[in-house]
Amino acid sequence: MKKVTKTAALVLAMAMAVSALTACGGADKAAETANTEAAGAAGTENADAGQSSAVTTKTEGVLTFGTNAEFPPFEFVAGNGVIDQYDGIDIAIAKQIAEENGMTAAIENMEFPSLLIALENGQIDAAIAGMTVTEDRKESADFTIPYYTATQVMIVKEDSDIAAAADMADKKICVIEGYTGEICVQDMGYPYEAFKKGTEAVMELVNGKCDVVVIDSATAQKYINDNEGLKIVEDASAFESEEYAIAVKKGNTELLDMLNKAIEAKLADGTISELAAKYTEEVTAE
Ligand code: ARG
Repeated sequence: MKKVTKTAALVLAMAMAVSALTACGGADKAAETANTEAAGAAGTENADAGQSSAVTTKTEGVLTFGTNAEFPPFEFVAGNGVIDQYDGIDIAIAKQIAEENGMTAAIENMEFPSLLIALENGQIDAAIAGMTVTEDRKESADFTIPYYTATQVMIVKEDSDIAAAADMADKKICVIEGYTGEICVQDMGYPYEAFKKGTEAVMELVNGKCDVVVIDSATAQKYINDNEGLKIVEDASAFESEEYAIAVKKGNTELLDMLNKAIEAKLADGTISELAAKYTEEVTAE
């Protein structure tokens, strides 16, 4: 049994790491209509609120979300003295969804590449982590409709001559382990160094030990606000848009339906854009 679990974990880890090939252009195209579709569903959703807690979760009455709280403004470890340790757009969404369905939200912080394994093992009910939907990840988990659109960007020093993705060819590139940014750079065939946390990669850049960090747009914005002398370079022809969605264990349609209803409603009534604006300003204001 143990062996089987280990093998499954390995397969998942590989799927996540290789997650590949499609990520730079691999955002789920079918999902792109989600924003408009959501509008029609809002009215009926409110009528249902409060009576849809029939889902089976790991712990009764608790909806356990896995995340990797190293990805502001979506999830980060909140400052000292704050009772709720984790905060961000995803954390707020998770708490609201749990509450609206008569449950409380529990957050389990783990390394990003472990999230799909934790789902498979039943350690968490759902993963909310600014996670891009890719064809490869869809092999290991089921995804809700997307709630946010992002893209990979390049963070460079203000005086950098990198103006497009192709300019990274002879540069020292930093990425974050298991993120779609790593997959994109891999696909481009450039050598790179992978770090566990965005902050670590950005420190390398600040200290002049690397020339460019490839990471998601909103998170990049947070890092350039926090560090002097950095700028963002975009290249829409190299990095296509990506959709973030919540992942559940494959086949858990009960929970998937509940989450989809909640996301549809939150897209339609503006909750998600408000949260995005709030946390973007919050991180910008620091
Ligand atoms: N969107 C990127 C991906 O899916 C990065 C997500 C990182 N999320 C996090 N919570 N650390 O690979």
